Amino acid sequence: MINNDRLIRACRRQEVDRAPVWMMRQAGRYMPEYRALRAKYDFMTMCKTPELAAEVSMQPYEILGVDAVIMFSDILVPVEAMGMKLDIVESKGPVLEDPVRAEAQVEKLIVPDPVETMPFVMETIRLLRKRLDASAPLIGFAGAPFTLASYMVEGGGTRNYAEIKRMMYREPMTIHRLLDKLADTIILYINAQIEAGAQVVQLFDTWAGELSAADYEEFALPYERKIFERIHRDPSGRGHSGSGVPAILYVNGCSHILEKMAESGADVLSIDWRIDLAEARRRVGDKVALQGNLDPCELLGTPETVAESVKEILKKGGGLGHVMNLGHGILPMVPVENARAFIETAKAGIKETA
Ligand code: CP3
Repeated sequence: MINNDRLIRACRRQEVDRAPVWMMRQAGRYMPEYRALRAKYDFMTMCKTPELAAEVSMQPYEILGVDAVIMFSDILVPVEAMGMKLDIVESKGPVLEDPVRAEAQVEKLIVPDPVETMPFVMETIRLLRKRLDASAPLIGFAGAPFTLASYMVEGGGTRNYAEIKRMMYREPMTIHRLLDKLADTIILYINAQIEAGAQVVQLFDTWAGELSAADYEEFALPYERKIFERIHRDPSGRGHSGSGVPAILYVNGCSHILEKMAESGADVLSIDWRIDLAEARRRVGDKVALQGNLDPCELLGTPETVAESVKEILKKGGGLGHVMNLGHGILPMVPVENARAFIETAKAGIKETA
């Protein structure tokens, strides 16, 4: 049993006293406590040192009082384990050496044993479960195949996804082979996280919203579905009953594919800010819970403007099957007092405005 089980209950669309709240990328540079540790260690060292990763994972929980802890890591960690060289470059983001452009490169990538190649991730999860001592749920995560493939083929972040799309249209077999290898990698990786103690999992298909609806159906949805079908929602490792580990799917720019995402097998859809939450609810009905969806840039306003917007979203969320969150990760330049206003307003709920 988890003391604060609001997140788990909201993911299952069970009744809660108020919507749970957490923030994507909640452990990060907007917090002085994070920057203090980051001044001493580079990002990948922090990911690979369980004591440090656990420490920064706990910061938003201990300092800001969010309802859940997400393990500190990065979606590209398993890509490194597959055999690519990864560098997170200051003020540029991730860079992958020798981007995947040919079938032979896809064949050379391995489907790694997560426990052997990423023991630090499972150790971080075990440390966090101990530190949390059942006070709040622990979220594990992974990148989805399309989003990971976009970094592997582009060699880093991109504006127009030209290289991965070139591969989609010229060499569909090669990209499908890559996406399938990634799906196999992520299934093992998420299952290892659940076995180590993750109580909710989020699949980040952040960039799948760059695809047309038809391309989403061909290049992203089947692999999301494969993952949700094969992860062990039941931590004992047998089957996946509806009562097991809830799974969240995030796509940035999801309005044109929302109904299709609801067919992925996810329990919760994490939506961006461009779509109205009430409209999203009408479109998916009671099939899935929804997470989101404040524009992360709204946290550059004032505590008062943040509070107003949070109340609007809570009203649209309607209390049932809603997890309060941002529509994408928090930005490094956000004033902490605004992040605090986001969380405090969500925790006060909408009783007084009803
Ligand atoms: O939510 C959390 O607090 C957990 C940690 C987390 C990070 N990255 C830490 C991180 C999670 C869940 C991610 C996911 C992630 N990483 C995604 C999907 C979600 C999203 O936000 O888009 C993507 C696309 C990545 C790839 C990635 N890693 C990028 C684009 C960057 C650069 C971002 C930047 O602002 O510089 C990273 C590095 C990274 N991952 C940082 C953090 C805290 C910044 C590294 C630093 O401290 O210098």
